[in-house]
Amino acid sequence: MLTEQEINTYQSQGYLLIRDFLDSSHIDACRQQAMSILESQSSESASVFSSIDQTRTSDDYFLDSGDKIRCFFEEDASIQDDPFRSINKIGHALHDLDPVFEKMSYSRDLFAIATQIGLSIPTIVQSQVIFKQPRIGGKVMPHQDSTFLYTDPQSCTGFWMALEDANVHNGCLMGIPGSHRSGLANYRFVRTKDGLSVTFEGSVPHWDVSEMVTLEAKKGDLVLLDGSFVHMSHENRSPNSRWAYILHMIDGQYNWDERNWLQRPPDMSFRRMVDVI
Ligand code: FE2
Repeated sequence: MLTEQEINTYQSQGYLLIRDFLDSSHIDACRQQAMSILESQSSESASVFSSIDQTRTSDDYFLDSGDKIRCFFEEDASIQDDPFRSINKIGHALHDLDPVFEKMSYSRDLFAIATQIGLSIPTIVQSQVIFKQPRIGGKVMPHQDSTFLYTDPQSCTGFWMALEDANVHNGCLMGIPGSHRSGLANYRFVRTKDGLSVTFEGSVPHWDVSEMVTLEAKKGDLVLLDGSFVHMSHENRSPNSRWAYILHMIDGQYNWDERNWLQRPPDMSFRRMVDVI
């Protein structure tokens, strides 16, 4: 359980670092499972993921991945390269389709934290393993997660779990403390009317990157991120990877916006944590 001071810090800063949230057995299980998914899927996966703009527009492989487990590769790496070295991420329904990630995602600890920071009906909408590969791990530009995962009122919350140490050398998270208090910029990533592609809508926000602070995390740490918190990460030019498992939750009392890129078919709707744990 979070202390009152931790909750206050989260509310005032828009993020909170929680040390030693995952134990090593969970991390090992998660890493092994990610490797076996990659092994079994890499041959059929051909999509390149642009971390610069967070996605690939007009790419069915990406657009249909909200209810699947799919592998995405770095822009700088070719599919002919070793898939274990060129993988950017696995997403986006690990929490509902893979037993190891399901167990890790629908945990009592995460549920308790989610309710403490104000989600009355914690509901996981997206899961990703991000690899941030040595030498080629791409930059993620400054953004707010609610741009991509929108509810009204906003309730998107990131649960960023370090599967390896994340530091300034291998592209750790960076963010602007208190930036969530300005709210979500008038900028959204939405499906087009026909539902077949996606586009950005609104005016491109400009944030003062000089205000960014580094959010270094140790293996096993959890970082909570408000959906309006402005954050980014630099390229990884170091010899070390920077694996992370990231969940995004919303408050299930609010409607999932029908224009969000991520949509589920009626027979696989989002699950409330309380119904699973
Ligand atoms: Fe993000």
